[in-house]
Amino acid sequence: MKPTEDLGPDSIVDFIADIFERRASDEYLGEPVTIAAHMLQGATLAERAGHDEEIIVGALLHDIGHFTSEFGSFTMDDTEDRHHEDAGAEVLERFFPKVVVDCARYHVAAKRYLCATRPDYLARLSDASVHSLKLQGGPMSQAEIAEFEANPNLRKIVQVRYLDDAGKEPDMETPDFGYFAPMVQRLVDRHCGAG
Ligand SMILES: [Fe+2]
Repeated sequence: MKPTEDLGPDSIVDFIADIFERRASDEYLGEPVTIAAHMLQGATLAERAGHDEEIIVGALLHDIGHFTSEFGSFTMDDTEDRHHEDAGAEVLERFFPKVVVDCARYHVAAKRYLCATRPDYLARLSDASVHSLKLQGGPMSQAEIAEFEANPNLRKIVQVRYLDDAGKEPDMETPDFGYFAPMVQRLVDRHCGAG
């Protein structure tokens, strides 16, 4: 396993591609898809809907924190429900624009936000997602809502959350990670000033 410190703008995309390949069969607890398929579905749905690359890549990488052991920053004692959104954001923030990082960092918060502000939202959540909502603090309070709405990336964060909820189809065909890799690299280059 390569430690995070060794990764740079020229190697991070290959590194993530390798994770998608090797962890392709990792279960997504309580869902009918693997974690990798779930993220590929979100990105595919985003592209089909004509969303921009920040949203597509945000959806593609939002759950990368479920693979935290790949990055050497967390222990084997961690469970995947232990703030995987923070773990993912921590990995992404060195290489990706803030909007992409925020889509990962706040995808759980976005669920809590939507549960508090859109009465019909709860109905579209999977059973596993409703269950984890309780562990994650339940719907946001008014003060939390106000703070969350101050984020300039709110619209894209919420959009990625909807893609997150939609990308749980048992049999959806998607391209593999390699299809999205050039797009991922473009955002890395933009953030890191290369290319
Ligand atoms: Fe997700």
